[in-house]
Amino acid sequence: MTEFAPTLTEKTAAAPKAELHIHIEGSLEPELIFRLAERNGVKLAYNSIDALRAAYAFTDLQSFLDIYYAGASVLLTEQDFYDMTMAYCERALADNVVHTEIFFDPQTHTERGVAIDVVVAGIERALADAEQRGLSSKLILCFLRHLPEEDALATFDAALPLFDRYRHRLIGVGLDSSERGHPPSKFERVFAKARAKGLKLVAHAGEEGPPSYVYEALDLLKVDRVDHGVRSIEDPALVTRLADTRVALTVCPLSNLKLCVFDDLTKHTLKALLDEGVAVTVNSDDPAYFGGYVNENYRATVEALQLTDAEVYTIIRNSFEASFVTDAERDALIARLDAHWHANAIT
Ligand code: HPA
Ligand code: ZN
Repeated sequence: MTEFAPTLTEKTAAAPKAELHIHIEGSLEPELIFRLAERNGVKLAYNSIDALRAAYAFTDLQSFLDIYYAGASVLLTEQDFYDMTMAYCERALADNVVHTEIFFDPQTHTERGVAIDVVVAGIERALADAEQRGLSSKLILCFLRHLPEEDALATFDAALPLFDRYRHRLIGVGLDSSERGHPPSKFERVFAKARAKGLKLVAHAGEEGPPSYVYEALDLLKVDRVDHGVRSIEDPALVTRLADTRVALTVCPLSNLKLCVFDDLTKHTLKALLDEGVAVTVNSDDPAYFGGYVNENYRATVEALQLTDAEVYTIIRNSFEASFVTDAERDALIARLDAHWHANAIT
Protein backbone atom coordinates (compact mmCIF):
# COMPACT_ATOMS: atom_id res chain seq x y z
CA MET A 1 0.00 0.00 0.00
CA THR A 2 1.38 3.43 -0.92
CA GLU A 3 0.59 6.73 0.70
CA PHE A 4 -1.15 7.62 -2.57
CA ALA A 5 -3.68 4.77 -2.34
CA PRO A 6 -7.21 6.12 -2.81
CA THR A 7 -10.06 5.76 -0.37
CA LEU A 8 -12.96 3.57 -1.50
CA THR A 9 -14.98 6.70 -2.25
CA GLU A 10 -12.17 8.12 -4.43
CA LYS A 11 -11.74 4.80 -6.22
CA THR A 12 -15.50 4.57 -6.78
CA ALA A 13 -15.69 8.15 -8.06
CA ALA A 14 -12.93 7.47 -10.57
CA ALA A 15 -14.39 4.14 -11.74
CA PRO A 16 -16.16 3.86 -15.09
CA LYS A 17 -19.85 3.28 -14.38
CA ALA A 18 -23.30 3.18 -15.97
CA GLU A 19 -26.28 5.22 -14.84
CA LEU A 20 -29.61 3.48 -15.49
CA HIS A 21 -32.16 5.69 -13.70
CA ILE A 22 -32.07 9.38 -14.52
CA HIS A 23 -35.05 11.51 -15.56
CA ILE A 24 -33.63 14.13 -17.88
CA GLU A 25 -36.22 16.68 -16.67
CA GLY A 26 -34.92 15.99 -13.16
CA SER A 27 -31.44 17.18 -14.16
CA LEU A 28 -32.72 20.73 -14.73
CA GLU A 29 -30.79 22.83 -12.21
CA PRO A 30 -32.46 25.97 -10.79
CA GLU A 31 -29.98 28.22 -12.63
CA LEU A 32 -30.93 26.69 -15.97
CA ILE A 33 -34.65 26.83 -15.12
CA PHE A 34 -34.32 30.59 -14.60
CA ARG A 35 -32.19 31.06 -17.72
CA LEU A 36 -34.70 29.19 -19.90
CA ALA A 37 -37.66 30.98 -18.27
CA GLU A 38 -36.09 34.30 -19.22
CA ARG A 39 -35.16 33.15 -22.72
CA ASN A 40 -38.69 31.90 -23.36
CA GLY A 41 -40.70 34.52 -21.46
CA VAL A 42 -42.16 31.91 -19.09
CA LYS A 43 -43.40 33.20 -15.73
CA LEU A 44 -42.33 31.12 -12.73
CA ALA A 45 -44.07 30.92 -9.36
CA TYR A 46 -40.74 31.74 -7.64
CA ASN A 47 -38.93 35.11 -7.97
CA SER A 48 -35.41 33.86 -7.40
CA ILE A 49 -33.16 30.83 -7.66
CA ASP A 50 -32.91 30.76 -3.88
CA ALA A 51 -36.70 30.86 -3.46
CA LEU A 52 -37.02 27.96 -5.88
CA ARG A 53 -34.32 25.97 -4.11
CA ALA A 54 -36.00 26.64 -0.77
CA ALA A 55 -39.10 24.88 -2.10
CA TYR A 56 -37.10 21.65 -2.50
CA ALA A 57 -38.20 20.36 0.91
CA PHE A 58 -40.20 17.31 -0.04
CA THR A 59 -42.38 15.13 2.16
CA ASP A 60 -43.23 12.42 -0.36
CA LEU A 61 -43.17 11.62 -4.09
CA GLN A 62 -46.17 13.84 -4.95
CA SER A 63 -44.74 16.92 -3.21
CA PHE A 64 -41.66 16.54 -5.45
CA LEU A 65 -43.58 15.84 -8.65
CA ASP A 66 -45.60 19.07 -8.31
CA ILE A 67 -42.38 21.13 -8.35
CA TYR A 68 -40.68 18.91 -10.95
CA TYR A 69 -43.51 19.44 -13.47
CA ALA A 70 -43.50 23.19 -12.76
CA GLY A 71 -39.74 23.28 -13.45
CA ALA A 72 -40.20 21.47 -16.77
CA SER A 73 -42.62 24.18 -17.95
CA VAL A 74 -39.67 26.33 -19.12
CA LEU A 75 -38.75 23.77 -21.82
CA LEU A 76 -40.15 24.89 -25.17
CA THR A 77 -37.62 24.67 -28.00
CA GLU A 78 -35.30 22.04 -29.41
CA GLN A 79 -32.37 24.10 -28.07
CA ASP A 80 -33.87 23.98 -24.56
CA PHE A 81 -33.91 20.18 -24.64
CA TYR A 82 -30.37 20.22 -26.02
CA ASP A 83 -29.10 22.54 -23.29
CA MET A 84 -30.74 20.52 -20.51
CA THR A 85 -29.38 17.23 -21.84
CA MET A 86 -25.88 18.57 -22.47
CA ALA A 87 -25.73 19.99 -18.92
CA TYR A 88 -26.55 16.50 -17.58
CA CYS A 89 -23.96 14.88 -19.88
CA GLU A 90 -21.27 17.25 -18.56
CA ARG A 91 -22.08 16.21 -15.00
CA ALA A 92 -22.18 12.53 -15.94
CA LEU A 93 -18.80 12.75 -17.70
CA ALA A 94 -17.34 14.50 -14.63
CA ASP A 95 -18.53 11.51 -12.55
CA ASN A 96 -16.91 9.02 -14.97
CA VAL A 97 -20.24 7.73 -16.22
CA VAL A 98 -19.38 5.99 -19.50
CA HIS A 99 -22.88 4.80 -20.34
CA THR A 100 -26.26 6.28 -19.40
CA GLU A 101 -29.88 5.26 -20.03
CA ILE A 102 -32.05 8.34 -19.81
CA PHE A 103 -35.79 8.66 -19.16
CA PHE A 104 -37.89 11.43 -20.62
CA ASP A 105 -41.56 12.28 -20.07
CA PRO A 106 -43.10 13.31 -23.43
CA GLN A 107 -46.58 13.88 -21.97
CA THR A 108 -45.21 16.64 -19.71
CA HIS A 109 -44.31 18.53 -22.88
CA THR A 110 -46.98 17.55 -25.43
CA GLU A 111 -49.74 18.70 -23.06
CA ARG A 112 -48.13 22.19 -23.21
CA GLY A 113 -48.10 22.12 -27.01
CA VAL A 114 -44.46 21.08 -27.48
CA ALA A 115 -44.24 18.43 -30.21
CA ILE A 116 -42.65 15.11 -29.26
CA ASP A 117 -40.33 15.42 -32.31
CA VAL A 118 -38.89 18.64 -30.85
CA VAL A 119 -38.29 16.97 -27.49
CA VAL A 120 -36.51 13.94 -28.93
CA ALA A 121 -34.53 15.93 -31.53
CA GLY A 122 -33.00 18.20 -28.86
CA ILE A 123 -32.17 15.35 -26.49
CA GLU A 124 -30.74 13.25 -29.34
CA ARG A 125 -28.51 16.05 -30.65
CA ALA A 126 -26.93 16.46 -27.20
CA LEU A 127 -26.50 12.69 -26.74
CA ALA A 128 -24.81 12.42 -30.14
CA ASP A 129 -22.41 15.23 -29.17
CA ALA A 130 -21.72 13.61 -25.78
CA GLU A 131 -21.03 10.30 -27.49
CA GLN A 132 -18.08 11.97 -29.24
CA ARG A 133 -16.71 12.69 -25.78
CA GLY A 134 -16.96 9.13 -24.50
CA LEU A 135 -20.48 8.92 -23.06
CA SER A 136 -22.65 6.30 -24.75
CA SER A 137 -26.39 6.42 -24.13
CA LYS A 138 -29.88 5.06 -24.65
CA LEU A 139 -33.21 6.84 -24.31
CA ILE A 140 -36.35 5.44 -22.66
CA LEU A 141 -39.78 7.02 -23.16
CA CYS A 142 -41.79 7.07 -19.92
CA PHE A 143 -45.57 7.14 -19.59
CA LEU A 144 -47.07 9.25 -16.82
CA ARG A 145 -49.03 6.81 -14.68
CA HIS A 146 -51.35 9.42 -13.10
CA LEU A 147 -52.90 9.90 -16.56
CA PRO A 148 -55.29 7.37 -18.21
CA GLU A 149 -53.88 4.47 -20.22
CA GLU A 150 -55.60 5.94 -23.30
CA ASP A 151 -53.18 8.89 -23.09
CA ALA A 152 -50.22 6.51 -22.89
CA LEU A 153 -51.54 4.60 -25.92
CA ALA A 154 -51.89 7.85 -27.89
CA THR A 155 -48.36 8.87 -26.87
CA PHE A 156 -47.03 5.48 -27.94
CA ASP A 157 -48.72 5.79 -31.35
CA ALA A 158 -47.38 9.33 -31.80
CA ALA A 159 -43.88 8.05 -30.96
CA LEU A 160 -43.95 5.12 -33.41
CA PRO A 161 -42.05 6.94 -36.17
CA LEU A 162 -39.45 8.05 -33.60
CA PHE A 163 -38.79 4.47 -32.44
CA ASP A 164 -37.85 3.77 -36.06
CA ARG A 165 -35.97 6.99 -36.82
CA TYR A 166 -33.94 6.87 -33.58
CA ARG A 167 -33.70 3.10 -33.20
CA HIS A 168 -30.02 3.36 -32.17
CA ARG A 169 -31.03 5.52 -29.19
CA LEU A 170 -34.73 5.23 -28.32
CA ILE A 171 -34.87 1.62 -27.22
CA GLY A 172 -37.54 1.27 -24.58
CA VAL A 173 -40.50 2.48 -22.56
CA GLY A 174 -40.94 3.07 -18.85
CA LEU A 175 -43.56 4.12 -16.32
CA ASP A 176 -43.16 6.98 -13.83
CA SER A 177 -44.97 9.70 -11.83
CA SER A 178 -47.41 9.16 -8.93
CA GLU A 179 -47.19 5.51 -7.93
CA ARG A 180 -49.83 5.06 -5.22
CA GLY A 181 -53.24 4.28 -6.71
CA HIS A 182 -51.75 3.78 -10.19
CA PRO A 183 -50.60 0.14 -10.29
CA PRO A 184 -48.69 -1.30 -13.25
CA SER A 185 -51.84 -3.29 -14.23
CA LYS A 186 -53.33 0.00 -15.47
CA PHE A 187 -50.77 -0.03 -18.32
CA GLU A 188 -50.85 -3.65 -19.43
CA ARG A 189 -52.10 -2.91 -22.96
CA VAL A 190 -49.57 -0.22 -23.84
CA PHE A 191 -46.70 -2.32 -22.49
CA ALA A 192 -47.94 -5.29 -24.57
CA LYS A 193 -47.76 -3.06 -27.67
CA ALA A 194 -44.24 -1.92 -26.78
CA ARG A 195 -43.20 -5.54 -26.19
CA ALA A 196 -44.63 -6.56 -29.57
CA LYS A 197 -42.46 -3.87 -31.14
CA GLY A 198 -39.37 -5.39 -29.53
CA LEU A 199 -38.73 -2.50 -27.14
CA LYS A 200 -37.07 -2.84 -23.73
CA LEU A 201 -39.45 -2.44 -20.80
CA VAL A 202 -38.93 -0.87 -17.38
CA ALA A 203 -41.30 0.51 -14.74
CA HIS A 204 -41.06 2.35 -11.45
CA ALA A 205 -42.46 -0.01 -8.80
CA GLY A 206 -41.96 -0.49 -5.08
CA GLU A 207 -40.71 3.06 -4.48
CA GLU A 208 -43.77 4.14 -2.46
CA GLY A 209 -45.99 1.34 -3.72
CA PRO A 210 -46.18 -2.15 -2.15
CA PRO A 211 -44.42 -5.35 -3.30
CA SER A 212 -47.60 -6.31 -5.19
CA TYR A 213 -46.76 -3.49 -7.64
CA VAL A 214 -43.35 -5.09 -8.27
CA TYR A 215 -45.07 -8.43 -8.96
CA GLU A 216 -47.42 -6.66 -11.40
CA ALA A 217 -44.48 -5.01 -13.17
CA LEU A 218 -42.85 -8.43 -13.57
CA ASP A 219 -45.91 -10.55 -14.37
CA LEU A 220 -48.21 -8.17 -16.25
CA LEU A 221 -45.83 -5.67 -17.86
CA LYS A 222 -42.98 -8.20 -18.17
CA VAL A 223 -40.32 -5.60 -17.43
CA ASP A 224 -36.60 -6.16 -18.00
CA ARG A 225 -35.70 -3.99 -14.97
CA VAL A 226 -37.53 -2.50 -12.00
CA ASP A 227 -36.93 1.17 -11.15
CA HIS A 228 -36.47 1.67 -7.38
CA GLY A 229 -38.05 -1.60 -6.13
CA VAL A 230 -36.69 -0.93 -2.64
CA ARG A 231 -39.89 -2.08 -0.93
CA SER A 232 -39.36 -5.57 -2.42
CA ILE A 233 -37.49 -6.40 0.80
CA GLU A 234 -40.88 -6.64 2.57
CA ASP A 235 -41.66 -9.83 0.62
CA PRO A 236 -39.03 -12.59 0.98
CA ALA A 237 -40.44 -14.63 -1.93
CA LEU A 238 -40.13 -11.57 -4.16
CA VAL A 239 -36.53 -11.03 -3.05
CA THR A 240 -35.69 -14.65 -3.91
CA ARG A 241 -37.34 -14.28 -7.29
CA LEU A 242 -35.45 -11.07 -8.10
CA ALA A 243 -32.18 -12.71 -7.04
CA ASP A 244 -32.84 -15.88 -9.06
CA THR A 245 -33.93 -14.10 -12.23
CA ARG A 246 -31.33 -11.31 -11.93
CA VAL A 247 -33.96 -8.71 -12.83
CA ALA A 248 -32.08 -5.60 -11.71
CA LEU A 249 -33.30 -2.82 -9.43
CA THR A 250 -32.24 0.73 -10.34
CA VAL A 251 -31.94 2.11 -6.82
CA CYS A 252 -31.66 5.87 -6.14
CA PRO A 253 -30.55 6.32 -2.52
CA LEU A 254 -30.57 10.15 -2.24
CA SER A 255 -33.96 10.27 -3.96
CA ASN A 256 -35.34 7.79 -1.44
CA LEU A 257 -33.92 9.91 1.38
CA LYS A 258 -35.27 13.22 0.03
CA LEU A 259 -38.73 11.75 -0.67
CA CYS A 260 -38.87 10.23 2.83
CA VAL A 261 -39.01 6.61 1.66
CA PHE A 262 -36.37 6.11 4.39
CA ASP A 263 -35.83 8.64 7.17
CA ASP A 264 -32.10 7.93 7.29
CA LEU A 265 -29.71 6.50 4.70
CA THR A 266 -28.44 3.98 7.27
CA LYS A 267 -31.93 2.42 7.09
CA HIS A 268 -31.81 2.01 3.30
CA THR A 269 -32.58 -1.52 2.06
CA LEU A 270 -29.93 -1.53 -0.70
CA LYS A 271 -27.41 -3.53 1.33
CA ALA A 272 -29.98 -6.07 2.52
CA LEU A 273 -31.07 -6.60 -1.10
CA LEU A 274 -27.44 -6.92 -2.21
CA ASP A 275 -26.79 -9.47 0.56
CA GLU A 276 -29.71 -11.53 -0.79
CA GLY A 277 -28.15 -11.57 -4.26
CA VAL A 278 -30.43 -9.00 -5.90
CA ALA A 279 -28.80 -7.09 -8.79
CA VAL A 280 -28.98 -3.61 -7.30
CA THR A 281 -27.49 -0.54 -8.98
CA VAL A 282 -26.92 3.05 -7.76
CA ASN A 283 -28.38 5.99 -9.68
CA SER A 284 -29.33 9.65 -9.25
CA ASP A 285 -33.03 9.75 -10.36
CA ASP A 286 -33.53 13.56 -10.37
CA PRO A 287 -30.11 14.90 -9.38
CA ALA A 288 -30.94 18.61 -9.58
CA TYR A 289 -33.67 18.10 -6.97
CA PHE A 290 -32.19 15.45 -4.69
CA GLY A 291 -28.77 16.90 -3.95
CA GLY A 292 -26.41 14.78 -5.93
CA TYR A 293 -25.31 13.21 -9.18
CA VAL A 294 -24.29 9.59 -9.33
CA ASN A 295 -20.95 9.84 -7.53
CA GLU A 296 -22.58 11.65 -4.62
CA ASN A 297 -25.14 8.81 -4.44
CA TYR A 298 -22.30 6.28 -4.25
CA ARG A 299 -20.40 8.33 -1.68
CA ALA A 300 -23.35 8.76 0.66
CA THR A 301 -24.39 5.11 0.30
CA VAL A 302 -20.91 3.68 0.83
CA GLU A 303 -20.63 5.76 3.98
CA ALA A 304 -24.11 5.14 5.40
CA LEU A 305 -24.17 1.39 4.70
CA GLN A 306 -20.44 0.81 5.25
CA LEU A 307 -20.10 -0.93 1.89
CA THR A 308 -16.91 -2.86 1.15
CA ASP A 309 -14.61 -2.67 -1.88
CA ALA A 310 -16.09 -5.95 -3.17
CA GLU A 311 -19.68 -4.75 -2.68
CA VAL A 312 -19.09 -1.53 -4.59
CA TYR A 313 -17.44 -3.50 -7.40
CA THR A 314 -20.53 -5.72 -7.59
CA ILE A 315 -22.87 -2.73 -7.74
CA ILE A 316 -20.91 -1.03 -10.53
CA ARG A 317 -20.62 -4.31 -12.40
CA ASN A 318 -24.40 -4.74 -12.02
CA SER A 319 -24.85 -1.35 -13.72
CA PHE A 320 -23.18 -2.75 -16.84
CA GLU A 321 -24.81 -6.20 -16.59
CA ALA A 322 -28.27 -4.60 -16.40
CA SER A 323 -27.72 -2.07 -19.19
CA PHE A 324 -29.35 -2.39 -22.61
CA VAL A 325 -26.11 -2.50 -24.61
CA THR A 326 -24.99 -5.37 -26.84
CA ASP A 327 -23.09 -8.28 -25.28
CA ALA A 328 -19.85 -7.12 -26.94
CA GLU A 329 -20.31 -3.59 -25.58
CA ARG A 330 -21.07 -5.00 -22.13
CA ASP A 331 -17.92 -7.13 -22.14
CA ALA A 332 -15.83 -4.10 -23.13
CA LEU A 333 -17.38 -1.94 -20.38
CA ILE A 334 -16.80 -4.61 -17.72
CA ALA A 335 -13.19 -5.01 -18.90
CA ARG A 336 -12.68 -1.26 -18.34
CA LEU A 337 -14.15 -1.54 -14.86
CA ASP A 338 -11.96 -4.55 -14.05
CA ALA A 339 -8.81 -2.76 -15.22
CA HIS A 340 -9.62 0.23 -13.00
CA TRP A 341 -10.64 -1.86 -10.03
CA HIS A 342 -7.62 -4.14 -10.00
CA ALA A 343 -5.15 -1.30 -10.58
CA ASN A 344 -6.31 0.55 -7.46
CA ALA A 345 -5.82 -0.87 -3.99
CA ILE A 346 -7.58 1.27 -1.40
CA THR A 347 -6.28 2.62 1.88
N1 HPA B 1 -40.67 8.39 -9.12
C1 HPA B 1 -41.70 8.49 -9.94
N2 HPA B 1 -41.75 9.36 -10.93
C2 HPA B 1 -40.70 10.16 -11.12
C3 HPA B 1 -39.62 10.10 -10.30
C4 HPA B 1 -39.58 9.16 -9.25
O1 HPA B 1 -38.64 9.03 -8.45
N3 HPA B 1 -38.75 11.04 -10.75
C5 HPA B 1 -39.31 11.63 -11.82
N4 HPA B 1 -40.50 11.10 -12.05
ZN1 ZN C 1 -37.33 7.76 -11.13
